Amino acid sequence: MNINSDVLIVGTGIAGMYTALNLYKNLDIVMITKSTLEECNSYLAQGGISTARDEKDKDLFIEDTLKAGNYKNDIKAVEVLASESLSNIQELINLGVEFDKKNGFLDYTREGAHSVNRIVHCADKTGKKVSEALLKQVIKRKNIRIYENTTLIDLIDKNNICFGGIATNEESIVNIYAKNTILSTGGIGGLFKNSTNQRTLTGNGIAIALRKCIDVKDLNYIQFHPTGLYEDKAEGKRFLISESLRGEGAKLVNINGKRFVDELLPRNIVSKAILEEENKTNSKYVYLDITHMPKEFIIKRFPLIYSECKSRNLDITKEKIPVTPVQHYFMGGIKVDCYSRTSMENLFACGEVSCTGVHGANRLASNSLLEALVFSKRAANIINNNIRNINLKCIDKQIDNQYATNLSLLNKKIVLKELIKIRGDIKNELVNY
Ligand code: SIN
Repeated sequence: MNINSDVLIVGTGIAGMYTALNLYKNLDIVMITKSTLEECNSYLAQGGISTARDEKDKDLFIEDTLKAGNYKNDIKAVEVLASESLSNIQELINLGVEFDKKNGFLDYTREGAHSVNRIVHCADKTGKKVSEALLKQVIKRKNIRIYENTTLIDLIDKNNICFGGIATNEESIVNIYAKNTILSTGGIGGLFKNSTNQRTLTGNGIAIALRKCIDVKDLNYIQFHPTGLYEDKAEGKRFLISESLRGEGAKLVNINGKRFVDELLPRNIVSKAILEEENKTNSKYVYLDITHMPKEFIIKRFPLIYSECKSRNLDITKEKIPVTPVQHYFMGGIKVDCYSRTSMENLFACGEVSCTGVHGANRLASNSLLEALVFSKRAANIINNNIRNINLKCIDKQIDNQYATNLSLLNKKIVLKELIKIRGDIKNELVNY
C-alpha cells in the first residue's frame, strides 16, 4: 500500500503537532504515531515551559541555560531559543492553552538552576494541557491525517535525499511518500530500566538515523531527574515528582531527616548528591518534604502529584515523599541546524529526538518543551517556504513482512548497542533485549 503526501510527521507529541499546525493549511500532512495519541511522552511533562520573561531577562536566561549545560551548548541555538521563547508561548495561548495566572498575569514558577521565576505552567499538568489544546486544533484541520499504532521502520531515501518513510501497523506495511519528512519520535527512556518516560520511547528515530549514517550528536549526554518517586516494586516507568515542588520550596532530606544539598542546583549535581547520600545512608532513596506548606496550596498547585501519591497511600501534605534519580531526558540525538534540518536532504528532526545543541551536557529544567516549540516552528517555516520547489518522487521500494520484522528488531537494539559502546558505565541501567 502507498500513501502520497506533502509532509510526513513521525510522532504526535508537542513537537509533531506544533509543526503540523505551523505548516500551510494547503499542504497534505500525514502524521503517524507508534502508539496512541494519549500515550505520548509530552502528556507526562509536569513542570512547565521556560521563557525569557521579557527582553531584559533574555541574557540571564541564556546564561542559566549555558551554565546548566556545562557550557557545552551551541550558543547560536541557545540565543534562538531565548529570543523566540515568549512569542511561542503567546502562540500557545492563542491556540487555547490556559496557563496559570496570578492577579491577571502569567504565574511564573521556578525550577533548579533558573536565576528567576520564568516557567509558565498549567498546575502540574502542563504537558497534558498543551497536548490537548494542540490536538484539538490538529483534529479541526482537514489537511492533516493521523494514523495511530503505526511505527516507522525505515526511510525511503536515495543518494542522501529523503522521500518519506516505511511504516507498519503489524498488519500491513505502507510506503508513505512525502516531499518533506519530520522525525519527532521522542527520546530513549524506554531503553532504561527506570525512567519517567513512556516505555514505547525506544529511540526509534535515532536508530534509523544511525542505520542511514545521518549525523548524530552528543549521544553520551543523558539526563537523570533527581526526583523520580521511589517505589519498592518492579522496574519500568517511574512517576515523576516535578522539580517545581523544589521551586516552590520543597526540601530534600536524607533518611535521617538531614538536608544535604541546595535543591535548586542543576539536575546533574542534585542527582549526584542524592546518589552519594543514598550510599552513605545505605538507603535506596532520600525524601522530598513539602509538608511545611499549606495543604490547600499543595492540592491546588500539584493536583496530579497529590492524587497519584494518594492513590499509592502517600499523603504528600502530611508525609515525606521517597525519591531517587531516574532516567528522564536525552540531550543528544539527530544533529540538526537551527531550522531542524538533518544531514539528509528533505529530512528534519524536532523535539527530543533531535540535537540542536541548546541543552549542552545537561538540560535546564523546562527547556525541553520550549525547544520543541521554537525549533518545530522554524522547521515548519522553512518547509512552507521551500516545498513548492520539491517534486514528490515515489521511488520504487517494497519490503516484505520478514524484512520489516528484522528492521523493527534492529531498530530496537541499535541504540542500546551504541549507548553501551559510548558509555560503558550505563550498561547496568539499560533494559535487556
Ligand atoms: C519536572 O517537572 O521536573 C520536569 C520538567 C522538565 O523535565 O523540564
